Amino acid sequence: MLKNKWYLICASKDLKNEIKSLKILGEDIILYRAENGEAVALEDRCCHRNVKLSLGYLDGNNVVCGYHGWEFDCKGECVLIPSQMPDTKIPPKAVIKKYTVKEFNKWVWIFVGDEERAKDVNPPNVPEMNEWDFTYKEHIFEADLEAAAESLIDPYHIKYTHKDSIKQLLGQIDEFPADFRINILEDGIDGKYYRANTANASEKMYFGTKPELEVYYRFYYPNVSRLEARFKDRTLLILEHFMQVDENRISMTQITLWKNIFGFFPPFGRWFMARKSDKIVSEDIALLRSQKGILDKNKDNLHEVSVKGDEVSLAFRKYWRRRLKEEE
Ligand code: FES
Ligand SMILES: [Fe+2]
Repeated sequence: MLKNKWYLICASKDLKNEIKSLKILGEDIILYRAENGEAVALEDRCCHRNVKLSLGYLDGNNVVCGYHGWEFDCKGECVLIPSQMPDTKIPPKAVIKKYTVKEFNKWVWIFVGDEERAKDVNPPNVPEMNEWDFTYKEHIFEADLEAAAESLIDPYHIKYTHKDSIKQLLGQIDEFPADFRINILEDGIDGKYYRANTANASEKMYFGTKPELEVYYRFYYPNVSRLEARFKDRTLLILEHFMQVDENRISMTQITLWKNIFGFFPPFGRWFMARKSDKIVSEDIALLRSQKGILDKNKDNLHEVSVKGDEVSLAFRKYWRRRLKEEE
């Protein structure tokens, strides 16, 4: 499991003064916005009798355990024990783990691992995340993390996996053999290529009639993939953030962003894109789930064949495995 990384939880605007319970790398965490505005992440465990704090409630900046009412502040320190006289000292060990939280580009990220190292690492910087209109949703399911990470930028799956959602807008790749212009970067890989513009007549009026549209892909190590379709002056951008929830499940948050699309009525755009994104993700999830079942059964003798058209996926894997190895 990838420790010492920043994990994306939600847009800053969606973090309220209420408890969100999370699981990241097998660790149970509560996250909330304190009344003073601070985003607070604590372990989801009361140190009195080891019950989940997420079953309790918030009182201003503090979280109150639902069992005997012990109260913890934003630092995870117990500040009130109702069964004690008010002037009795609170045991110094009555402290729970606090996680480092960062609000970056208007999104909330939690650092999981050795807290000391949080200052040496940054979440991937994607400025569009704080500039463009968007919709997003987290999906948790059984899948292999590496396979899920490579799926968004896999150029040939769109026509088949997404035949009922975006195939028409992002037509097949006509060029043969396709040139993916892969670059290996310091913090990931990127490249671009062209897809046929197979939009219908009315879509073409809006998105342009050029026979080809440019697709830009990017992987930001360690946990964000990006796919961007550029039509004239309009852009559709899909980001996928992924993380290991526990041994078998991963979380995939798909963020769909756009520029110069739906300018006429933003709430319609968000509603429309949220439905589209759900459909797209469900198409991927069905395949990724089935793949996990097969991979688990055949761990020791994996029969997998690749061809030249898989070079983006292969470049991703090579890069990803090298980086993981360097961290060991
Ligand atoms: S278990 Fe939390 S207050 Fe007792
Ligand atoms: Fe997909």
